[in-house]
Amino acid sequence: MDKALEYWMTILREKKTDRATFRSAAHQISRIIALEVVQQLPTKKSNIETPIAPTTGIQFTHSPLLVPILRSGMAMLPAFLELFPDACVGVLGLKRDETTAIAHWYYQNMPRFDSETFIIIIDPMIATGGTGLETLRFLCQKGAHPDHIIYASIVSAPEGLAELKKEFPAIKIMCAGYDKGLTKDKFIIPGLGDFGDRYFGTES
Ligand code: URA
Repeated sequence: MDKALEYWMTILREKKTDRATFRSAAHQISRIIALEVVQQLPTKKSNIETPIAPTTGIQFTHSPLLVPILRSGMAMLPAFLELFPDACVGVLGLKRDETTAIAHWYYQNMPRFDSETFIIIIDPMIATGGTGLETLRFLCQKGAHPDHIIYASIVSAPEGLAELKKEFPAIKIMCAGYDKGLTKDKFIIPGLGDFGDRYFGTES
């Protein structure tokens, strides 16, 4: 693993990390993941002129559609907007029932998109994969193409990754930590606890 990523992941996972530092680590990790995601986006050659001479570079063929899943996805969004300042943002709200670990919809606000749109789903924790599956089904039913979907995350459990890949083998998943498994309460081991609670300060 990239040393900067490993360093920030250590800070993020440590239970004694205070809220401000947790937020800062989440942002630094999201920036590194966003740079990895960029590698997957199609580009074309671009002819430009420097003040001195003509030369060539690249440009992205599509501005991606960013889809943060509420609420933890909001934590990663600023890093992606730094890279794609003009990207459209579709917001989806899914809440995991803490007893059953089943995800329930409470908000959908998407801009127009089609099968050509490159969609980046932003969701820091892939635990059971329930939230991700609901999101992928929703986007694909509305016309998204799985080949054009990238799932940007921070920590995943093998159970969740397997669920996503079983139904959507074509999507690309970029993640900083590939963890061991899930507790009986469906928390990732070793994970980092409840991401949203630590980021937003709602720990009980
Ligand atoms: N969501 C979290 O915030 N943490 C987990 O461990 C699993 C899901």
